[in-house]
Parts: sequence; C-alpha cells; structure tokens
Amino acid sequence: MAIIFHEKSRQFHLYNTDISYIIEVMDNGQLGNLYYGKRIHEREDYSYLHEEVYCPHEVFCQEAPSLLGLSRMKQEYPGNGVGDYRIGAFLIEQENGSRVSDFQYVSHEIYAGKRPLQNLPAVYTEKDEEAVSLDICLRDAVTDTELILTYTIFEQYPAIIRSARFTQTGEGEIVLQSAMSASVDLRDRDYEMLQLSGAWARERSIVRRKLCQGLQSVFSNRGISSAEQNPFVALVRPTTDENHGEVYGFSFVYSGSFLAQAEVCAYDTTRVTMGIHPDNFAWPLSQGESFQTPEVVMVYSDRGFNYMSQAYQELYAKRLARGMWRDQERPILLNNWEATYMDFDEEKILKIAATAKEAGVELFVLDDGWFGTRDDDWQGLGDWYVNRRKLPNGISGLSKAVEDMGMRFGIWIEPEMVNKNSDLYRAHPDWVISTPDRFESPARQQHVLDYSRPEVVDHIYKMLSEVIEDSCISYIKWDMNRYLSECYSRVAGARDQGTVMHKYILGVYRLYERLIAKFPEILFESCASGGARFDPGMLYYAPQAWCSDDTDVCERVKIQYGTSLVYPIRSIGAHVSAVPNHQNKRTTPLLTRGNVAFYGAFGYELDLNKLSAEEMKMVKEQIVFYKKYRKLIQQGKFYRILNPFEGNEASWISVSEDAKEAVAMYFQRLNTVNGGFLRILLTGLSEDTFYEVQYLDRTLQLYGNELMNAGIPVERKLLDKLGGDFTSLLFVIKAVEA
Ligand code: GLA
Repeated sequence: MAIIFHEKSRQFHLYNTDISYIIEVMDNGQLGNLYYGKRIHEREDYSYLHEEVYCPHEVFCQEAPSLLGLSRMKQEYPGNGVGDYRIGAFLIEQENGSRVSDFQYVSHEIYAGKRPLQNLPAVYTEKDEEAVSLDICLRDAVTDTELILTYTIFEQYPAIIRSARFTQTGEGEIVLQSAMSASVDLRDRDYEMLQLSGAWARERSIVRRKLCQGLQSVFSNRGISSAEQNPFVALVRPTTDENHGEVYGFSFVYSGSFLAQAEVCAYDTTRVTMGIHPDNFAWPLSQGESFQTPEVVMVYSDRGFNYMSQAYQELYAKRLARGMWRDQERPILLNNWEATYMDFDEEKILKIAATAKEAGVELFVLDDGWFGTRDDDWQGLGDWYVNRRKLPNGISGLSKAVEDMGMRFGIWIEPEMVNKNSDLYRAHPDWVISTPDRFESPARQQHVLDYSRPEVVDHIYKMLSEVIEDSCISYIKWDMNRYLSECYSRVAGARDQGTVMHKYILGVYRLYERLIAKFPEILFESCASGGARFDPGMLYYAPQAWCSDDTDVCERVKIQYGTSLVYPIRSIGAHVSAVPNHQNKRTTPLLTRGNVAFYGAFGYELDLNKLSAEEMKMVKEQIVFYKKYRKLIQQGKFYRILNPFEGNEASWISVSEDAKEAVAMYFQRLNTVNGGFLRILLTGLSEDTFYEVQYLDRTLQLYGNELMNAGIPVERKLLDKLGGDFTSLLFVIKAVEA
C-alpha cells in the first residue's frame, strides 16, 4: 500500500495489492482522473492515459494550441461553468450571483493513517500503518475558496475513501448549493447499475439496470437515508455475478438525504457522483468557515459481488463500528413488540421474560409503550419517563427483576420524535420542524423534533440519561418512524434554512455520541420503521440495526440477502416471529425462521408462552446451536450462493477465517412435485481440505473442491418431509483428518 506523488508528471498513484487509483494535475491546474481499477504497475508517468480529442465545437479551457476541453476529460471533482456539461461535483454561488468555479492545484500532503472527520461518522484506523491518506489542496482564485480533497487507501481492503472540505478564506460570502463527497470518471460505459431499493417492510431489494447515455440516479430527499433507496450503488459489468467480474461499489457514510448518480456521456465515459442531496441544502460560508462533506467508501472488486461485500462487511464491522460491542458476539434477545405491542404491564412482561430466560435468551428488550401516556401511537412520544400505571416499579424495578432472572435488559426509544399529545409538545410547540403558516404534516401521528437546535438535543439527552442512570440498561433500540417534511427551523434565519436538514442529522449524531460517551457499555441498535436508516453512518454509533418490520421468513431471506451486499452479518437484526406472520399472514416452519434469522444479530420477537412444548423444544435447540456457532456466523466470511431475487431458492454460507469451519443455509420458497435433481454447491471453502458435513441426521465426508464443484446431492423427499414450502437446510461443515 502506498500513495506516491510523481513530481515531474504531477501524478498521484494510490495503490495496494488489489487496486490502483491515479490522479493527475492537468495543464490548467485542475485535477484529472487517469485510472481506477485493478492494480497496475507503478510507473513515473501515466500521461499516455490522458486522452484529449479535437472536436470543432468543443469549449476549451485554455488558449490554442491546447486541446484541453473539459467536456470529455476524466476529472476528479468537476466544477461548473467552464465547458464540462456533465453533472458537477459541487456548485458554489458567489455574492454577485456567479456560479462559475475553477479550483486549481496548490499543494498536497501524504500522511500515515487517517484523520477523523469532525462531528461526522467516518472509517478510522487503529494504527497508522493500516492506511495512508492524501489531502490535495486546491484554490479558486476568484472566490478565494480553498478545497481539500481527501483520499485514504487501506493496506487490507480494496477501498478508497473520499471526502471534500471547503473553506472560505476570502472576504466575500459564498453559498455551497451542492457539495458531493466524491466524483469519479470511469473510462467506459459498459455497466449496469445495481441499487438496493424498496419500501417499508421490503427494504434493500437488489435491482440492476443497464446504463445508457444520460443520467440515472437513486436518492433520498426524505431527511434520512430511507427504505426506498439505500445510500449504495455499484457499477457492474453485465456478466458480473457473485464470484466473477468487475464491480465498483459506492457507499455513503451518512444517514440523511443523499444522491447517487451515474452519467454516461456522449463519448462513452461514465461519471459517478455521490453525496448529500442538494434539495433542501444551501450552506453559506463566510470568511473562516468550512464545510466538511461526509465520506464515500469506494470498493473495487474483480471477483464479483462476494469479494466487494466482504470488503465492505469487514471494513464496516472493524473500522467503522466502534465501542466495546464491536468485536463481541451479539446477545440473543427477545423483543416484546410483536408479543404484546403496547398492551402490557409488568406482570405480563415478566411472564414473557421468564420463559425467554428458560429458553436460553440473554437479553430482554422492552419495546414501544413504556413511557408517558403511551397506550397507542397518538400520544406520549417525547415524554421519556416511565408510565407507572403499566410499570409500577418503573424501568428501574423491571430492569432489576429481569437482571435477577439472569438476563440483560434493554429498552426502545424514539428520541427524535414528539406526539402533539405529550407534555413535551405542550411545553415546546416550536421545537417541531415545521414551516410558519403551513400545515404541519403528521406521519404515524407524530412530528420531528428540530435536532438542528442544540437545546432540543440537550433536553432529550437529559431525560434519557435520567432513565438510563436509574436502571440496569444494557441495550437501547433507537427508532425513527417518519420522514421529514416542511423542513424549517423556527430559530434559523432565512440565510440558514438550507442548513437545517444536514444539521438535523448532525444533531442526531451528537446525541448518539454523548450517550455513547456516557454509557459506553450499552449496545445500541438503530431502527427506522424497520430498516429505513440502515446505513453506514448509523453503524458508527450503533453497531447493529433492525433490518425490517417484515419478519416473514420468506421475505426476510431477500431482505437479508440484499442487506448483506454492504452490511456486516453481525449488524443485521434478525428475529424469529410468530405465525401466521403479523405482516403478511404467512405460516412458515419454525425451523426455517430460525435458520434464516441465525445469519444476523439473532433474536425472537414473540411470546414463547404461546408455543407448544415441541416448538419450545426447538427454540431451545436453536439457541444452543446459535451459541455454539454464533461467532463463526457473525464474524466469519460470508458468501452468497443462490439469489432469491432470481429464483425459488436462496443459499449462503459463513466460513471461518482459516476455512476450517463453516455453516451454510439453503432455503426453498415453494416446493415442487416430481422436481428435478437438487444439488447444492458451496463456496468459500478450502479446495484441498477434507470436511465433514452434517445436515439433519446425515453426515458426509468430502473435499472442499468436491463440495464447491460437484456439490451435495439432496433428495427432494427430505424437503417434503420438512414440510415442503418454505423449508430450509443447515449444513455444519468442519475440517477433519482425511
Ligand atoms: C417501528 C419499529 C418496530 C417497533 C415499532 C414500535 O415500527 O420498526 O420494530 O419498535 O416501531 O412502535
């Protein structure tokens, strides 16, 4: 791994064993991109990659004989108004109304490790030797604005991490109308764009579409990253699959509105940009003020999606997530939401908790409904003190009782929200994000608190701290159940209204940071109506996230498959729930509900008292199994095998670092009568290792290359026996002496 600057050619080469990324300072002082992809040989001069083409109506940014016309140049961080007609990476408005900019190279700094981003989530190093970083400093002479583009490359990951920082050094005020975190121009257009799209209860479906000339984008302008689009896109070759082919991944470490775009130009290059969505964004900068963008993590793989996902999963699990829970096995929890909804009292809760303990559960989570007058979703949000009618001994008494049973205790909160029917709203109606003289649009009967205001964050921090200090709380599920609307802060002036949406997210991060600092032992799980804020920004504060409100296993297989494209298995909250499923009324076998939920931060979300003795026996077996293989599943290398978006089956495997152990899962949606042969091919094992494979009551002994190439023949009657539809098999694989 290195970042080298070649003085003579004025080129930077960032590389490690997997990738090369090459930047040039062009003749006009702006930055061009010469290459991004599989590692190539290090050399003094890559000028042969700088292509200029003469075209009679090109707008040239220099006098003849130069041919430098920006509309075809591959650039690093393109601006506006000087002859490049593709999407820009930023837009600055000057006091005189001009929107032209021209940032030219001034200097650079190469340094070991990676510096933190102030007040923003960011990938980090533990030791300087893990990565090397580059800051390139540019200046626009007319506005007297400084721009620093930061790049980091890790030794271990095929990733480049990028961000940008604008500082106004001149006297005039500028307004940043847009500031993407990264822009990259790829040399051709032969790509499909892969995105993780969906909606509430069907988050992160894999969608692929062929790029064509023009713009294609995904975005959220909802104030949070959203269920509709995840802040991730990949450009992939049409033939790329899980294990073969090129992938360029772009993942945004941010939890607010975002925009990811790919533009194919008339000359067959592709520009990708990613950053904060420019809607509802306008950031004024006076002399001495700066704006730091969040960062984009770009991963390149020439070995298909699995290799890309493993890079993201490992980087995010080990160098984005933080705190004492980062490397620990996550506790098996039981959450009471689908067991009781808000209809509970202490007695009911303790009864559910006692049975959970008997089954082997390690953490009991009390979901929505324990505070204020929260009997339904019309009231109580904002009043973070216990409802004594339901819980006469308070959270304090309940948490101690649960701890006395031998389990940890956790609670649900939704600290960014308020119901109009609450003491908080009655005391502070102006704390809500809403625009004067306009209707305040409710969603789920609730409104968003203005977290751009420090006093609001302070107040909520104080209330929550009191609850936590008074009790034995080991886990917090932090929910967020509506999108922003009528975005406006009652205290910001007209000039600053365009900063409110971003400052809202900074306020959320600030509250997280303060709670983490004060209560470092608490395991946070983020949530937003299920998985509407499952993004890398959140992972920096909460190392796991509730994956989706859809707990039907058949849907879950897809949601977990899609989520695993970017996110660590241990971060994916996955629970076994009751049947018929509460969301879609489907009945599926308990065995399968467990087998699928194992691949995540595993738990239950039902009242175990309502199960039959036989089912309870299976729950106990599931918990014993999971405790035994949890580390391997949560922390092993994860390979997707069969894609449920493409067919009737799904399959995946977690393999230990040394490839001596693995647990694989096979799932079939609908059963067939008189079906064809079924052969399950595994991935990720060591070719020449001899393994013992166990599934149900069967045992096989085969070499890795047999398991991966010849596969395991499975008789279909086994699936019939298990119940036919929605059945699954779990394969436990261990290296043994040949
Ligand atoms: C959201 C969450 C659920 C549950 C409810 C409580 O929908 O996703 O898991 O916590 O809120 O109101």
